[in-house]
Order: sequence, then C-alpha cells, then structure tokens
Amino acid sequence: MTVPDLKLNSGIAIPQIGLGLWLNKNEETCKAAVKHALKAGYRHFDTAQIYANEAYLGAALKEAGTPRQDVFITTKIWNENLWWDGFDPSFDESLQKLQTDYVDLLLIHFPVTNQRRPAWYKMEEKFKKGQAKAIGVSNYTVAHLEELLRECSVKPVVNQVELHVFLQQPELVAYCQQNGIVLEAYSPLAHGYHMDDPALQQVASKHSKTTAQIMIRWCIEQGFVVLPKSAHPDRITENIDVFGFSLDAQDMAKLKTLDKGFRTAWDPTHVT
Ligand SMILES: NC(=O)c1ccc[n+]([C@@H]2O[C@H](COP(=O)([O-])OP(=O)(O)OC[C@H]3O[C@@H](n4cnc5c(N)ncnc54)[C@H](OP(=O)(O)O)[C@@H]3O)[C@@H](O)[C@H]2O)c1
Repeated sequence: MTVPDLKLNSGIAIPQIGLGLWLNKNEETCKAAVKHALKAGYRHFDTAQIYANEAYLGAALKEAGTPRQDVFITTKIWNENLWWDGFDPSFDESLQKLQTDYVDLLLIHFPVTNQRRPAWYKMEEKFKKGQAKAIGVSNYTVAHLEELLRECSVKPVVNQVELHVFLQQPELVAYCQQNGIVLEAYSPLAHGYHMDDPALQQVASKHSKTTAQIMIRWCIEQGFVVLPKSAHPDRITENIDVFGFSLDAQDMAKLKTLDKGFRTAWDPTHVT
C-alpha cells in the first residue's frame, strides 16, 4: 500500500497516514508494530517524549534496516521540557533515543501557559539548524494560533489535534486551512469508542469496509494527516487500506451528523 503525501507550508512532504504510538509502551510490542507497519507501507511514525517509546521506534527502524531518508519521524516536546533550560537537553535526548540527528517534524505537545511562547523560539532554532525539518504545534486552539502567527518568524506547518467524526471542530479546521496549516487528526478512531455507531456501520457496509476504515477515510477526504494507533498487525494493515474507495456527498452528510463534540483526550479550549 502506498500512502500519498501532503505538502507542508515549508515545502516538505508528509505521508498522509502515520502510525500513532501513544500507549504502545512495551518494547517488544512497540517494535513489532513498527516493523509490521513498515511492511504494510507506513513510512510515518508519530511519537512523543511522554510516550516513552522513542527509543523503541529508533531501534525498530534500525533493526528493519530502513534508510533514514525513507521515513518521516515526528516527536513532541513534553510540557515540563518547554522551559528555556530544559528544552535543548530534552530534544538532544529524543534524537539520541531515535538514533538520528534530525526529526522530520517537531511539535510543541500542548500550549502550556507562559511556556509556549518562549518555547517557539527554541523550535525555530532547531528548524534553522536543520535538526527539525519542520516545526508545528499540537492541541492549539484558534486563539493560541492567532498569538503564534502574530509573533513567529517561522510559521507552524501543522496543528495536531483531536479530530474525528465525533469531534469535527469546524471552526478550528477552517482557520488552519485558511492559514496554510495542515491538520493532523489524532485519535481518529475516537480512541476506539463508538465504533459500533449505527450510522458509521451503514456507511461501512455500503462500501464493504470496516467502521475504522470509514473514520480514517473521512479524515483523508478532508485533507487531514491521520494518525491511527494500533498494536495489532491485522488492524495496522486494515487502517492503511483506505485508498481504493471514496466517500460520496451523501456519506459525508451522514457522517457530519455524528459531530457530538465528544473528546477522548484533554481539552485545551480553556488554556489561556
Ligand atoms: N498530540 C496529542 O496530544 C495526542 C493525543 C492523543 C493521541 N495522539 C496521537 O494520535 C494517535 C492515535 O490516537 P489514539 O491512540 O488516542 O487513538 P485511536 O487511533 O483513535 O484509537 C486507538 C484505539 O483503537 C483501537 N483500534 C485501532 N485500530 C482499530 C481497528 N481497525 N478496529 C478496531 N479497533 C482499532 C486500538 O486498539 P489496539 O491497539 O489494541 O489495536 C486502540 O484501542 C496516538 O497514538 C498518538 O500518536 C496525540
């Protein structure tokens, strides 16, 4: 399976599906998932300092013999490492664990009050040094993005946020799209909740697909990068097998009705 690329505003390409690695904390399971994903066609891996598996990802990629330039690696700076003196050592440690001298995409994991603004200067430094080929943010609201766009010298390429059929975030999506910021949909399967929803099942049976594949395809149709997580080989393969069909206007209209503002992760809307 070949996954298409999207173009980021910095000019680099990003594979539209990446394997999510949150909660994949066991070394053997994590390495097996990464190696299976490579065989299935994934070339994009989404980790973070707080996931405690950067080293497993780095080791799995090395053991699989994948040339560095053939994979796209994202990591994220964790909240307690955003402070001025903590940023650099934590980033160096991430590179060491990942067994690489650059990441393709570096994100601020969460818009921590009083930390996110100085941290962006550190992000820009990593970008200018070539240690991060692109830089972006995660869990930013429109207000956080407005602040950043007013002040930055390097624009964020992505905003990685919780985004799925049950949490469609139309205002945030429109703002990012108007400003050339690609949306990365995290928890695209709503963390496994509501996958038996009747409307989802109807669309799935119409296309002879699973409800997981419909949820992922819904993101693809809208030009989002999608980051499904699974630790199971069959599901890893299933989640990338979403390119031989498309959702029509009727399907999209039905799926639009599922937006319930349902969050599975943290809510950044009240972070000042
Ligand atoms: N930036 C952030 O703050 C943030 C926050 C949350 C997530 N993320 C990123 O987004 C990724 C995905 O989010 P997520 O892990 O919350 O949830 P998700 O991908 O929405 O759902 C994962 C859950 O669905 C199950 N699953 C996967 N494929 C399935 C399939 N085909 N059929 C049925 N069940 C399936 C998984 O179980 P098994 O593993 O047992 O298959 C797991 O329980 C994360 O791994 C991470 O990379 C980022």
